[in-house]
Amino acid sequence: MAGSEIKEAVRSKYGEAAKKVADGGTPGCCGVGHQCCDPVSGNLYDAAEKSILPAEAVTASLGCGNPTALAKLQPGEIVLDLGSGGGIDVLLSARRVAPNGKAYGLDMTDEMLSLARENQRKAGVENVEFLKGEIENIPLPENSVDVVISNCVINLSADKDRVLREAFRVLRPGGRFAVSDVVVRGAVPADIRRSVELWVGCVAGAMEEAEYREKLSAAGFAEIEIEPTRVYTIDDARQFLTAEGIDVDAVAPQVEGKFASAFIRASKPAGAVKG
Ligand SMILES: C[S@@+](CC[C@H](N)C(=O)[O-])C[C@H]1O[C@@H](n2cnc3c(N)ncnc32)[C@H](O)[C@@H]1O
Repeated sequence: MAGSEIKEAVRSKYGEAAKKVADGGTPGCCGVGHQCCDPVSGNLYDAAEKSILPAEAVTASLGCGNPTALAKLQPGEIVLDLGSGGGIDVLLSARRVAPNGKAYGLDMTDEMLSLARENQRKAGVENVEFLKGEIENIPLPENSVDVVISNCVINLSADKDRVLREAFRVLRPGGRFAVSDVVVRGAVPADIRRSVELWVGCVAGAMEEAEYREKLSAAGFAEIEIEPTRVYTIDDARQFLTAEGIDVDAVAPQVEGKFASAFIRASKPAGAVKG
């Protein structure tokens, strides 16, 4: 698929997911419509976090981590969430950076933006702004953000180098990149890798850990750390892979422990002058 086709597939998939939540349903997030998100998106937020959010913001959660819990947000900071979906991480960030800080959510899908704005209204949180746009072309000026967060979105992009360069550009010198994403750990045969990625929902493909580090470094980032937060087992994906016609037990050694959600940290060096 070309980059523009990938983007349209992503937009259509998440537009449908948002409509389902707005109509009182659940998003249904796997590539072929299986209800198999739980090992990836289930139980990411604790009860205290969920209790301060509208139910639809929790239901719409399609992430694979909890970046706001790990990002060490401080009052007064400006936060940007790349691919903010129903807005769960934006609303949680806004509380953490209040009273003088602000949280931006950026998403390209109209239905997700509507859902997020409605969730903001229900939550009664004011220091939030949802922006329409693409993470490959962030509609904010350079050096304007303290922390870039994101939850399971960068793997969807066909141009990850550009996303990371844009994140670097909008961060102020000393700013932090604090992102949850799916990573591949080591070599996995291409066809099996693609099937597992479809199970997780990685439309454009997840990056291998070393590749993530290289791309962050090429974008200008320093202090890069990748910490697995949830490592998937073959049983997590068994139902989906079986339906795809894959002999799960035969491929188990090549899949077990090779796919993980991870928390990825990096910083824009304090002396960076480039935008
Ligand atoms: C897997 S969902 C994650 C949503 C949210 N981060 C969460 O944790 O619930 C992916 C979201 O990213 C958005 N998205 C995907 N690719 C994007 C892009 N290139 N530019 C802007 N938004 C994008 C989709 O519209 C969708 O809302």
